Amino acid sequence: MNMLNFNSPLRLLAGASRRTPQQPQSKETKMESSAQINSTPDYRAIKAKQNAAWSSGDYAKIGMTLQITGEELAEAANPIPGSAVLDVAAGNGNATLAFARRWCEVTSTDYVEALLDSGRMRAEAEGLNVAFQSADAENLPFENDAFDIVTSTFGVMFTPNQSRAASELKRVCRSGGKIAMANWTPDSFIGALFKTLGKSVPPPAGVQSPAQWGDANWIDATFAADAEDISINRKQFNFRYYSADHFIEFFRAWYGPVHKAFLALDSEGQQQLEEDIQNTIDRYNVATDGTMIVPSDYAEIIITQS
Ligand SMILES: C[S@@+](CC[C@H](N)C(=O)[O-])C[C@H]1O[C@@H](n2cnc3c(N)ncnc32)[C@H](O)[C@@H]1O
Repeated sequence: MNMLNFNSPLRLLAGASRRTPQQPQSKETKMESSAQINSTPDYRAIKAKQNAAWSSGDYAKIGMTLQITGEELAEAANPIPGSAVLDVAAGNGNATLAFARRWCEVTSTDYVEALLDSGRMRAEAEGLNVAFQSADAENLPFENDAFDIVTSTFGVMFTPNQSRAASELKRVCRSGGKIAMANWTPDSFIGALFKTLGKSVPPPAGVQSPAQWGDANWIDATFAADAEDISINRKQFNFRYYSADHFIEFFRAWYGPVHKAFLALDSEGQQQLEEDIQNTIDRYNVATDGTMIVPSDYAEIIITQS
């Protein structure tokens, strides 16, 4: 079924082809080992580098500004109180807190412990009962069908082995459960920001763009075979800062991928990157008073598993 219509909720019916319990990923793992012999990307090395990037700066300072996206996603997922929810690549708890505020039993996971600690502090401050656990999104330490809802806001999209991560989301979500995601689209401001970073510090060879997770066709191709229903809404998050300079300074200090990109460059390269980011912001900025309001498109995706 054609999934190109991005602005209205999409519906599709597809035949069920879920894995049987006790056989997680075996087929895929075999395919990966033979693919690695044929020199596919070294996912382990790439992931270690990415982990170092997300561990640098302090993503929590950015994450708390995105809270509205977690709240809106949780509303769209329409959870029943008591639902078992897994937040994948949760950072400091954007979606985690939103689902916990709706009486869900949330397990919040990320591969950066310091971000889980930030999420834990936020949950404690609100008296929310959340389980925090370190986990790689590509190798989730949970049983098949363990969760009613599996969610990720701007998180799982950054895994290098995309098909593996998608399989893991499907595996741990029960039949009839939902996979709820917020993913930046390829033409969004954040999509453009990553392209800008890539000009100065090229991404690892062979790894697909994270923004594929915000593309309706890719979501269709990746999830439709195991889905009873897919709905995708295109939404916008406004990055609001005092000015473009403020944004650049803030992201350079705290947003791991930007922080690391600047560190990798000499002073000339840093100046060029700063200019490039400034130009990228100028292309999207709708503020007319010298401040910065940059709407960034994202796909709010609810997949109901067959
Ligand atoms: C842009 S942040 C989003 C965090 C949070 N979900 C939010 O909405 O604010 C990306 C997050 O993905 C996490 N991440 C990236 N790759 C991961 C992986 N393979 N396993 C677990 N977490 C991962 C990073 O540590 C980081 O917290």
